[in-house]
Amino acid sequence: MLAGDGKPKHILEVNGLRKTFGGLTAVENLDLRLEYGELRCIIGPNGCGKTTLFNLITGNLKPTAGRVIFEGREITAWPVPEISRLGIYRKFQVPSVFEGLTVYENMRIPYFARMKPSILGRSSVSRNEHQEIMELLERVNLAGQAGELAGNLAHGQKQWLEIGMVLASRPRLMLLDEPTAGMTIAETKITADLVQEISESSNISVMVIEHDLGFVKEVARKITVMYKGSIFREGTYEEIQADKDIHDIYLGRHR
Ligand SMILES: Nc1ncnc2c1ncn2[C@@H]1O[C@H](COP(=O)(O)OP(=O)(O)O)[C@@H](O)[C@H]1O
Ligand SMILES: [Mg+2]
Repeated sequence: MLAGDGKPKHILEVNGLRKTFGGLTAVENLDLRLEYGELRCIIGPNGCGKTTLFNLITGNLKPTAGRVIFEGREITAWPVPEISRLGIYRKFQVPSVFEGLTVYENMRIPYFARMKPSILGRSSVSRNEHQEIMELLERVNLAGQAGELAGNLAHGQKQWLEIGMVLASRPRLMLLDEPTAGMTIAETKITADLVQEISESSNISVMVIEHDLGFVKEVARKITVMYKGSIFREGTYEEIQADKDIHDIYLGRHR
C-alpha cells in the first residue's frame, strides 16, 4: 500500500507466507506489516516458526507460498546477497563472530563486504572507518575490548559484538533472533536499552525475536505473538500479559 507521498507505508509486508519442510508446516498463512522506524518484538513458543520467518525474509529459505515485500518491492525468493544489498541484515540465534579475530577485526568485516573487489587487498583502515568502528564499539559497550580476541569475550559480549557488526553493515531493516539468549538479567536489560537506543537514534526498523518476557516488557513496543506458524495475536505488553490464551499456548494448553 502507498502512502500519500508515493512512498510505501510499510518498510516490510509479508502476505500469505507459507513454508513446509516435507510433511511439516513451519509457517502457515502468515501476514505481517512493519512500519518505517518500528521496533517490533516477536514472541511465541519454541518451534512456532519465528526463525523460519526470518529465514524467509532474508532469502535463506524460499517460501512454499506467499510474498515478501520490502519498501514496496517484491523480494520473495531473491538470492541472499541481493536482499542484503537492500539493507536487510540479521543476527543469528547463535553468535557467529570470528573467534580467532579481535573485536576490532570482526567489526571491519562488514566494511570489506561493501568494498569493490579492486581494493579488497587494502589492509589499512581509513580515518572515517576507524572512527565509525570505535563509535559503534562504544554503543555496544565494547570500546574497551577492541584488541581482545572475540573468542575470549563473555557470551553476552559476543552477542553485542554481533549487533555491532550488523550496525556496521548499515541496515535499513535489522532482524535480531533471540539477542538475549544465554544472557544474565543485567545483560538482558543492557541489550533491551541498546535495541531501543538503536531504534530511536537511527533510521533503522527492527524486528526482534525474543523468548525473554522481561526484555519484551522493557522494550514496551507492539508485540506479535506467533503460534503454530501463524500470527496468534498482536498487541501491547499489557494486552499480551492479560491474554489467557497466550499463557495457555506457552504452557501447551491451547486447544
Ligand atoms: N531446515 C529445516 N528443516 C526441517 N525442519 C525445520 C527446518 N527449520 C525449521 N524446521 C522446523 O520448523 C518448525 C519451526 O522452527 P523454527 O522456525 O526454528 O521455530 P522457532 O524459531 O519459533 O523456535 C520446527 O518444527 C522446526 O523443527
Ligand atoms: Mg528460533
